[in-house]
Amino acid sequence: METEKKLVFESDFYIKQIMKLWDEGEKWASWISEVTSKYSTGKRILDVPCGIGRISHFLVKKGFNVVGVDISEKMIKAAEENTQGATFKIGDMRYLEDIFKDEKFDITININNSLGYYEEEDDVKILNQLKKVSKSLVIINLDNRDYTIYNKPNEYYTYAPPYLVLSRETFDPTTSRLMVRRTYFMNDKEIGKIEYSQRLYSLHEVLSILKKAGLKPIEIVAGHSWKGFSIEDSEMTIISKV
Ligand SMILES: C[S@@+](CC[C@H](N)C(=O)[O-])C[C@H]1O[C@@H](n2cnc3c(N)ncnc32)[C@H](O)[C@@H]1O
Repeated sequence: METEKKLVFESDFYIKQIMKLWDEGEKWASWISEVTSKYSTGKRILDVPCGIGRISHFLVKKGFNVVGVDISEKMIKAAEENTQGATFKIGDMRYLEDIFKDEKFDITININNSLGYYEEEDDVKILNQLKKVSKSLVIINLDNRDYTIYNKPNEYYTYAPPYLVLSRETFDPTTSRLMVRRTYFMNDKEIGKIEYSQRLYSLHEVLSILKKAGLKPIEIVAGHSWKGFSIEDSEMTIISKV
């Protein structure tokens, strides 16, 4: 199971899909900068998982002191190539205290639906680890389960240059996990597949695991905006105090 997951995160297919979201990284960095002003925090930040560094890159430009952690060697290599002025480390977000010992950050962020890969207890552990290495705020951004199950098609095509991607997604209501199967095509030929499942959360469930992790939510918005989250929004972003 663990190895299968690692293979997904190390795959060029997955990386190309994250690459498509690069520009969005700038919007996240601007919003996070506003968070630091609003809540008067410092600018030493841990971006975990940092993926290809698309948010870290723009955070550096906004004057943040950035450390990024990701489990995938390929993602970290891409992050280092993409960004000067940040520190990137290969590491598992379930064990942040082991990586950082007594080192702390002003803010820790977990953006772009990056929980739910493991079991719910693991997510509580990850949130607790984000808390342990943060001095003031923890920000998480997740897809809204309720939006996803009622609005996202089960089957759709996207283009992640150079690949045409066919996604087939099935939701299991008994586990609240979304099974994602993606097939990649180039020049009309199938050239690869990836498969993984991810636990999706409704807001009340996220609030429950944040509580278990000892975090105190102070603001809930839609994506990287200041609009208060509502059930129709596709993403929920929760700012918590440690
Ligand atoms: C959806 S991507 C999001 C990356 C980044 N936050 C962004 O917005 O671009 C999810 C990332 O989680 C990483 N990941 C999965 N399990 C992890 C773990 N246990 N520890 C650290 N990173 C992990 C993957 O390698 C992948 O880069």
